[in-house]
Amino acid sequence: MAEFDPAPINSDHLEIEGLQVVQPRRGVVENNRIVGFNSRDKRSRPFNLMRTQLAKQFTEEQIRLIGVTSATPAAGKSFLSVNLAASLSRVLQVPTYLVDLDLRRGSVAEELGIEFENGISDYLLGEDLKLRDTGLRLEGTKMAVFPTRTVSIDSAQAIAGGKYDALVQTMRNKTAGAVVIFDLPPVFANDDAVLSTRLLDGYIMVIDSGKTTRRQLTDSMEMLNPVPCLGTVLNRYAGGILDSYGYGSASYDQYYSD
Ligand SMILES: Nc1ncnc2c1ncn2[C@@H]1O[C@H](COP(=O)(O)OP(=O)(O)OP(=O)(O)O)[C@@H](O)[C@H]1O
Ligand SMILES: [Mg+2]
Repeated sequence: MAEFDPAPINSDHLEIEGLQVVQPRRGVVENNRIVGFNSRDKRSRPFNLMRTQLAKQFTEEQIRLIGVTSATPAAGKSFLSVNLAASLSRVLQVPTYLVDLDLRRGSVAEELGIEFENGISDYLLGEDLKLRDTGLRLEGTKMAVFPTRTVSIDSAQAIAGGKYDALVQTMRNKTAGAVVIFDLPPVFANDDAVLSTRLLDGYIMVIDSGKTTRRQLTDSMEMLNPVPCLGTVLNRYAGGILDSYGYGSASYDQYYSD
C-alpha cells in the first residue's frame, strides 16, 4: 500500500499570501509620518528616490537582504526602514518584508500601530516557532512585518546563534525573490549590528545631520567592513526635500550608491 507522504512538518515557508493579515491603525500610521504607502503624498518622494536606487541594485545585482543602521542612536533608522519598505512594496513587483532586529528597542510594530502575538525575539530565543508565525502581512499591501519584543538578555547572544543564521537563510530561500529590509540597532550600541549584517547582502547607513560626526561614520563603516554599503542617507538635513512640510527636515535625496 502506498504511504501518505506529508510535507515535512519542519519546513518553513514564507510566501506573503500565507502570513496572517493585520490592519495597521490609520491614525497611528499618519501620526508617525509613514508616507511610503501613498504615492500622492509628496512626502513619499525621498523614499521613492531611494527605492529607485535599490530597485536597480535588486534587478542588476540580486541585492535582496538589506540592513539599515547608523553610527549612533535615534538617527531615523526605523522611520526610514518602514517608509522604504512601504515604498518598495508599492512599486516593485515583489513582496517586501521588514524585519525588526533591534531586539533592545524594537519600534516597528508601534510605529505602524499593529499588535502581535509572536515576535522575532521569540523565534530567536528558541521558542518552538516557525518564522512564518512571526510574520504579519499588512492588509491590502505586499508588505509583511516581522516585529520584535524588547529582550532583556544579551541580545548579541540571540544574533550570534544558529537561529539567526536560520532566519537569514529562510529569508533568502523561502521568500520567492522578496526584498527584505532589516531594521538594526546603531553600530556603536552593542555588537548586534555588526553581527547581523555579516549575512546580509549590504546595508544602508543613516547619518543624523549635524549629529553624526565624520569620525563616527568612518569608524562604524570600518566595523561593518567587508559587508557592502549600498548607500548613505542624510537625515534631518536643514533645507532638505522634506523641509517645506515643516516636520524635522530631512533630505533623502542625498542618497547615493558607490
Ligand atoms: N526625517 C524625519 N522627519 C520626521 N521625523 C523623523 C525623521 N527621522 C526620524 N524621525 C522621528 O524621530 C524619532 C527617531 O527616529 P527613529 O526611531 O526612526 O530612529 P532610530 O534610528 O530607529 O532610533 P533607535 O536608535 O532608537 O532605533 C522618531 O519619532 C521618528 O518618527
Ligand atoms: Mg529604531
